[in-house]
Parts: sequence; C-alpha cells; structure tokens
Amino acid sequence: MRFLQLMLVILVYSQIYSCKKKENSNAVLKREGTKLFNDIGCVQCHSLEGEKMYGPPLNSILGNESIVQRMDGKQLKLIVDRAYIYRGIKDPNFEKPLSFLNSIMARPQISEQQINTLTDYIILINMEQ
Ligand code: HEC
Repeated sequence: MRFLQLMLVILVYSQIYSCKKKENSNAVLKREGTKLFNDIGCVQCHSLEGEKMYGPPLNSILGNESIVQRMDGKQLKLIVDRAYIYRGIKDPNFEKPLSFLNSIMARPQISEQQINTLTDYIILINMEQ
C-alpha cells in the first residue's frame, strides 16, 4: 500500500514538472520569437494583433482556408498549417494569398533555425488567440 501511494505521489509530481517545463519552453519561444520578429523587421509589415498592414496579420491564420496563387500562376485552396507558415517565411514568393498578389515580401536572410523559431512563434501566437 505504501509503495502504491509513493508511486502515485511520484506520478503526480512528474506531471506537474512536465507541465512546468512546457510552460517554460513556451516562455522561451515567446521571448526569442518576439526578439527575432522585431529585430529582423517582420514587425514593419505584419501585425500580431489583427490589423492589415503592408502584409497580412499573422495572429489568426492557423487552420484558415486560404486561396493562393503559386509562382506558375496556378491557384489553389489550402488550409494554413505549419508547413504553409514555414514556406511563407522561407520562400515568400512561392505562393501568395489572392488579396496580396501585388505585394512583395523579400526573402529574409536568416538561418534555418531562425525560420523554425519564427514559425513556431507564429503558431504559439495563433494557439493563444
Ligand atoms: C516588406 C514587408 C514584409 C516584411 C519585412 C516581411 N513580410 Fe511577410 N509578407 C509580406 C507580404 C506582402 C506577404 C503576402 C504576400 C506573400 O506571401 O509574398 C507576406 C506573407 C507572409 C506570410 C504568409 C502569410 C499568409 O497568410 O499567407 C508569413 C508567414 C510571413 N509573411 C512571415 C514573415 C516573417 C516571419 C517576417 C520576418 C522574417 C516577414 N514576414 C517579413 C510582407 C512582409
């Protein structure tokens, strides 16, 4: 009986610990993401509060249906997921939402790791909405 109680206590504490760890990693992602977003200048064209600036707002896009036009002129309907957001940063001219066909985002000169951090940061912001 004692043994079982002990196991239960360990289980409960390990759950609390892993929740805290997740909380911390989200806080780190938020800090790093905010810094990159501001320092690289994404903030000059994109709002994370919902306004349309030169570029589309990025805070409530995840899971949305979007119609885009690809470089070859082909239009298609897709659901905004992680891969789409990643492509939007890595290769902005590959596809554009129809309402931004005539707007240009330059390909940012950043590392693969920074692209992934920004992608995860944008997803975190979307999950918090
Ligand atoms: C000069 C203004 C400008 C800057 C700076 C800029 N963007 Fe963009 N961004 C745009 C425009 C315009 C679009 C829409 C057209 C396109 O996809 O090329 C866009 C599209 C996107 C998309 C796809 C959004 C959607 O709903 O289709 C993502 C994601 C994105 N940008 C992220 C970023 C990130 C992250 C940075 C910083 C590294 C950044 N942008 C810097 C103007 C900009």
